[in-house]
Amino acid sequence: MATTATDTLDYSVLPDLPADVFTAPLQKPAHVGDDWIEPEQKQYSSAEDAIWNDLFGRQMDVLPGRAASAFMAGLEKLDLGRGGVPEFKAMSEELNALTGWSVVPVPMLIPDHVFFWHLANRRFPAGNFIRTRETFDYIQEPDVFHDVFGHVPMLTDPVFADYMQEYGRAGWKAMRYNRLKALGSLYWYTVEFGLIEEAPNDLRAYGAGILSGPTEVVFATEAQSPNRIMLNVDRVMRTDYVISDLQPTYFVIESFSDLYRQTVERDFDRLYRNISPAFTYANSAVIDVDNVVHRGTQEYLLRGGRGSGAQPI
Ligand SMILES: [Fe+2]
Repeated sequence: MATTATDTLDYSVLPDLPADVFTAPLQKPAHVGDDWIEPEQKQYSSAEDAIWNDLFGRQMDVLPGRAASAFMAGLEKLDLGRGGVPEFKAMSEELNALTGWSVVPVPMLIPDHVFFWHLANRRFPAGNFIRTRETFDYIQEPDVFHDVFGHVPMLTDPVFADYMQEYGRAGWKAMRYNRLKALGSLYWYTVEFGLIEEAPNDLRAYGAGILSGPTEVVFATEAQSPNRIMLNVDRVMRTDYVISDLQPTYFVIESFSDLYRQTVERDFDRLYRNISPAFTYANSAVIDVDNVVHRGTQEYLLRGGRGSGAQPI
């Protein structure tokens, strides 16, 4: 495997958070340790298992032909549709046999440096709770459906699994340069909202933010509004993103090997020295160096986006 210049670091120990690095102020619950892992996965009620089943069924109506083949294969390999919220221990054993990854339950969003540490050790932290019927369509915090259904199938792909580990390792360096925001943008536009060109004119979603909800799957792959631009790591890390609405721009990869190569071969030391603390490009911008697959009309955004009644077209 290619390696970044962070080889001298010991990834088995929790990294120190430099004093000048800002991360979201999260209150660690008293019952979890510094690793933020829950002692046990939650026991779900039958009503909660039914929520999982309904969410699963809703996604399966829209994903075939729109989700990446690697994602669909991962769902199958782990048999995530067998009914009810998957049991993390059994799922981790199957996943571990495929790519050496495991899934660990965490109570909520966890601090960045803890998140990077888990990824660098091939552990994926997944939210323990599941949304309610009242928040069935939209939740702000990632729940077990988003984390397990959206993220875990992709971890069965060996190259993508390596990319996720490299991303975790890259976190160490981003902290040293106080550029977590830039690295967060790369995660956003790949792991959460990435598209892959599987064949000419056949774009599929591999990002968990797209795959775990019904609207964005169609919007990201078929709508006229959003831009679709070939991924360039430097450009993406300078680009702002929107958390609570459909994305004005999606970035497209040729293959997971290409994504892996673009990331591990990039000299992040040099990039972080040259990148400004604030984002350079708006999330709807198209710039002259872009390799544009589809220039969006941005009609959805221009009509006011979420809450305005604008159609996601
Ligand atoms: Fe996520």
